[in-house]
Amino acid sequence: MKIGILGTGMVGSTLATKLVKLGHQVMMGSRTADSDAGRKWLQSVGGKGKLGTFADAAAFGEIVLDCTNGANAIAALRQAGAANLRGKILIQVGNPLDFSKGMPPTLTVCNTDSLGEQAQREYPEARVVKELNTVNCEVMVDPARVPGEHDLIICGNDAAAKREVANRLVEWFGWKPGNVIDLGDITASRGTEMFLALWIRLFGKFGSPHFNIRVVRGK
Ligand SMILES: NC(=O)c1ccc[n+]([C@@H]2O[C@H](COP(=O)([O-])OP(=O)(O)OC[C@H]3O[C@@H](n4cnc5c(N)ncnc54)[C@H](OP(=O)(O)O)[C@@H]3O)[C@@H](O)[C@H]2O)c1
Repeated sequence: MKIGILGTGMVGSTLATKLVKLGHQVMMGSRTADSDAGRKWLQSVGGKGKLGTFADAAAFGEIVLDCTNGANAIAALRQAGAANLRGKILIQVGNPLDFSKGMPPTLTVCNTDSLGEQAQREYPEARVVKELNTVNCEVMVDPARVPGEHDLIICGNDAAAKREVANRLVEWFGWKPGNVIDLGDITASRGTEMFLALWIRLFGKFGSPHFNIRVVRGK
């Protein structure tokens, strides 16, 4: 499959590396076509990938993963271009964290709106699915890093897109189907993004990002 990854940070690199290892064709997008971070990633996978701008990667991908900096994600998406995303699944992984005033970060958007919704509004013809943003990137691609049962929340307006993405989570990364919770339309992004306030405190307490939540229901 041809997959576009927007973002050269640790999330983009981790997802891109895993997808290359699975035999997919991956293009990593950046503000510039040959960023230092992009070249470093390409070298790390022995040249088995491609680099381009955000627009190049969006055009290349049959599925596109948005792993850009949350506070600047809409600016990055604007560079990807509407025509390159039309009709495509856009997996929105980012969290709108603002670290400019130190720790803990605040959210650039919350309560009545979210980054997932902003992305869907920006590209009404893209099929935005919000997911993977509630776990560390090493857990995203290897859920077995956290022992036992634990859950991943997805949401979005397009039911078929969510079904396809849930299947990819199982096929690509080994998530168990029963551990993927579809929380409804894209407004559910608000909750998954605001969860970061808790996630960051848990990270501080445990000193490791390799943890996740399990939703336990009563009868
Ligand atoms: N770290 C994790 O395990 C984890 C887990 C869940 C969710 N997330 C979320 O995933 C996203 C990616 O995180 P990360 O740490 O991998 O990367 P990051 O450093 O937050 O973002 C890197 C990407 O953002 C782009 N970017 C930065 N400023 C920009 C601007 N002004 N305009 C356009 N693009 C800009 C960079 O472009 P260039 O390539 O041109 O520099 C780069 O591709 C974040 O939203 C984060 O909250 C992270």
